Amino acid sequence: MKDKLRSQGWFGKTGKDGFIYRAWMKNQGIPDYEFRGKPVIGICNTWSELTPCNAHFRELAESVKRGISEAGGFPVEFPVMSLGETLIKPTAMLYRNLASMDVEESIRANPVDGVVLLCGCDKTTPSLVMGAASVNIPTLVVSGGPMLTGKFQGRDISTSDVWRFNDAVRAGEMTQEDLTVAEACMCRSRGHCAVMGTASTMACMVESLGLSLPGNAAIPAADSRRKVLAQMSGVRIVEMVKENLRMSDILTREAFENAIITNAAIGGSTNFIIHLLAIAGRMGVPLELQDFDKLSRNVPFIVNLQPSGKYFMEDLYYAGGLPPVMKELDGHLHGGCMTVNGRTIKENYDTTETYNREVIATVDKPFNPLSGVAILRGNLCENGAVIKPSAASPHLLKHTGKAVVFEDIEDYKNRIDDPALPLDENSVLVLKNVGPIGYPGMPEVGNMAMPKKILAKGIHDMVRISDGRMSGTGFGTVILHASPEAALGGNFAVIQNGDMISLDVANRSLTLEVSDEELTRRKKAWKPIHKKYDRGYVSLYQKHVQQAHLGADMDYLVGGSGSEVTRDSH
Ligand code: FES
Repeated sequence: MKDKLRSQGWFGKTGKDGFIYRAWMKNQGIPDYEFRGKPVIGICNTWSELTPCNAHFRELAESVKRGISEAGGFPVEFPVMSLGETLIKPTAMLYRNLASMDVEESIRANPVDGVVLLCGCDKTTPSLVMGAASVNIPTLVVSGGPMLTGKFQGRDISTSDVWRFNDAVRAGEMTQEDLTVAEACMCRSRGHCAVMGTASTMACMVESLGLSLPGNAAIPAADSRRKVLAQMSGVRIVEMVKENLRMSDILTREAFENAIITNAAIGGSTNFIIHLLAIAGRMGVPLELQDFDKLSRNVPFIVNLQPSGKYFMEDLYYAGGLPPVMKELDGHLHGGCMTVNGRTIKENYDTTETYNREVIATVDKPFNPLSGVAILRGNLCENGAVIKPSAASPHLLKHTGKAVVFEDIEDYKNRIDDPALPLDENSVLVLKNVGPIGYPGMPEVGNMAMPKKILAKGIHDMVRISDGRMSGTGFGTVILHASPEAALGGNFAVIQNGDMISLDVANRSLTLEVSDEELTRRKKAWKPIHKKYDRGYVSLYQKHVQQAHLGADMDYLVGGSGSEVTRDSH
């Protein structure tokens, strides 16, 4: 095994080179035997006090290290760019691809034989998985775990309530003082958002792909069993290196299909689509937007978690976690897919049990026969758009209304509460220039806050369309990821106030009721209004980012370069 370890290309050398590779490492008090043929395991850490959801990761890394050492490996922890959803401006999504480059190059350039990815807050999972996928050495994900359920004025709350509280304050139904109290009540423990938002969706994604040990997705961050899982993951990654079990052995087309089916059943975030497409692109696995619709069409919603349902990630853990959910989906899944523990996914879920049917339903008696995402087609979005029917209002799933257009986010903020804005609850709000290139970075503003005058009528939902994304904790009849985005000058770019828009989710159509001749005339006169950046990463991003229906990865990052160092000059 010694000869096969890539780390021995550094530490196994004699003479000046070997001296240099080992000597500086020894300043950390590492004994010589650690360098003599032990699997070197990188712990890719997104710890940061600016990423509060991952702020406990140094402690988690210690548990992983214990497992690695116990199994005869040599742990080395290294930092990578950490993306905290709540603080980073203009949006963490702008930097997902940058972080993935950091991860990819950090792994490839260093003497590691296997890697454990510590993932938590939304973008820290896809960026790490994307980067590692492009290197393709043995890789295992440990998620940070969700927060405990929030408690406020005698009731359970979580991130989804942010939108409700905001609407309540705007409607005069909640005081600013109560809103401040709610802040601490919502985030009362370590961990990421406690609903089936994007972070939890990502944790379920890695588990259903087979990239984590079973049970990883739902154990709360504050539960001691999270550390147990981290330690066991440390043990297992050493074995994976010995078995040479790499990402490409796990991330097959069937594994991606399993993730899509599972995501439908759990009511996962719409961001899942963009991230999974990007990961598939890195692995060279063919996956299209349409696959998400096709594969999730007959899958019911069986996990009763907010924002589509009632409960929280903590409740999912007590009900058994993700494995019994996958057991319910057995008839839909590819049970033979290999996972990081060396067992098939079916072997992992087959012996598990559901402990609370209020939280995990059966496929025969689901909480909602509608699940997953619907991919809409039509002249409004030539390359597709996305809606999450389970988070939408049933009466709006078939709807025709007049467009009220906001050319960009500033335009929206300036006018949405203008009493003179000509709209009613049947209008369709259209927000342009919040796509990958246009914003740039495709922020989560698609579930734009409702106009005050509509809220005042006691109405809390309208059809809203944008080329942006929505927080995984968001809800409403919200159509997202319209592609091509407005910044590219397609039909979406030339929608005007008063145009009629027809949505028919059952038939998967989104139509701009404007003639082709008129659209051609408008497109000839169209001029981009988004800001163009001419230096640094952002300019690179605007030049190379792909559209949402392709996963919004950089065109030059699709695929991988393997684990060979870029150039070995020694
Ligand atoms: Fe980090 Fe929600 S803000 S997971």
